[in-house]
Amino acid sequence: MTQTYLKLNNGLEMPQFGLGVFLVPDGKETIDACLNAFKSGYRHIDTAHAYQNERGVGEALKQSGLKREEVWITTKVWPSEYGEGKTLPAIDKMLERLQTKYIDLLLLHQQVGDYNGAWKDMEKAVALGKVKAIGISNFNENLEDFLAHATIKPAAIQVECHPYFPQHELKKRMAEYGTVLESWYPLGHGDPKLLNEPVLVELAKKYGKTVAQIILRWHIEEGNSVFPKTTNPEHIKENFAIFDFSLNAEDMEKIATLNNGKRYFTDNLAQQQRFTQWKPED
Ligand SMILES: NC(=O)c1ccc[n+]([C@@H]2O[C@H](COP(=O)([O-])OP(=O)(O)OC[C@H]3O[C@@H](n4cnc5c(N)ncnc54)[C@H](OP(=O)(O)O)[C@@H]3O)[C@@H](O)[C@H]2O)c1
Repeated sequence: MTQTYLKLNNGLEMPQFGLGVFLVPDGKETIDACLNAFKSGYRHIDTAHAYQNERGVGEALKQSGLKREEVWITTKVWPSEYGEGKTLPAIDKMLERLQTKYIDLLLLHQQVGDYNGAWKDMEKAVALGKVKAIGISNFNENLEDFLAHATIKPAAIQVECHPYFPQHELKKRMAEYGTVLESWYPLGHGDPKLLNEPVLVELAKKYGKTVAQIILRWHIEEGNSVFPKTTNPEHIKENFAIFDFSLNAEDMEKIATLNNGKRYFTDNLAQQQRFTQWKPED
């Protein structure tokens, strides 16, 4: 099965599909999940300082025997380490935890605090070769203001995205910058309602695939990067088996009828304050 790649606005090619490790405990669970994924053909892992499992990702990379350049590693800076002069040392600590000389894609995890200062340090990290590409996550308000001030325009924006909330408006806002959309909660965080939607069940029967595979293929057809989380070895294999079929325009229109504006996670002031106060361990 040949996986697909997305060309970023800096010319780099990123594997479109990967494994997300949000809520996967560090150590054996993260290492096993990544190693299983590598064995199935995955070449992209999405982690974050806040997930507290960068060490496990780095260890799996080492144990896999794969060459560093064969694997795409995305991680994210938490707001507690935002600020000019503050984010660059935080990136050095990430490199240590990941046991790597460079990060493929580094994102600002949340749009709170001194994200403009952090971005300046991330631009420096690119110049220093510590990071290949930089992007943002969960940005929305004043996005255009941030973009106007950024010397390097974000290569990716990572946000909640699934058939209930396909993020077409945001994609229009980002189009002129060539920014790739990365889908989090791509399977609705495992929501049984989404995984049993009659339209998707019907398409699963038509293609001899599971509903999860239909949804993941929808993300691929939408041109999004997608990295569902699972530690289940069967799901790891199943989720990657989506490069031997495609959804036609008629099927994509059927899935478009599921767009109902539902979001599983809505930002609010209290949440933003929690983000500002919390500090992940090194
Ligand atoms: N930037 C951000 O703020 C942000 C926020 C959230 C997530 N993310 C990223 O996005 C990734 C994915 O999001 P997510 O983990 O929250 O949600 P998700 O991938 O939409 O859903 C994960 C859930 O789906 C289940 N699942 C996976 N494959 C399945 C399959 N084939 N059939 C049935 N169930 C399946 C998993 O259970 P099992 O483990 O039992 O398979 C798990 O409960 C994260 O890991 C993280 O990398 C980023």
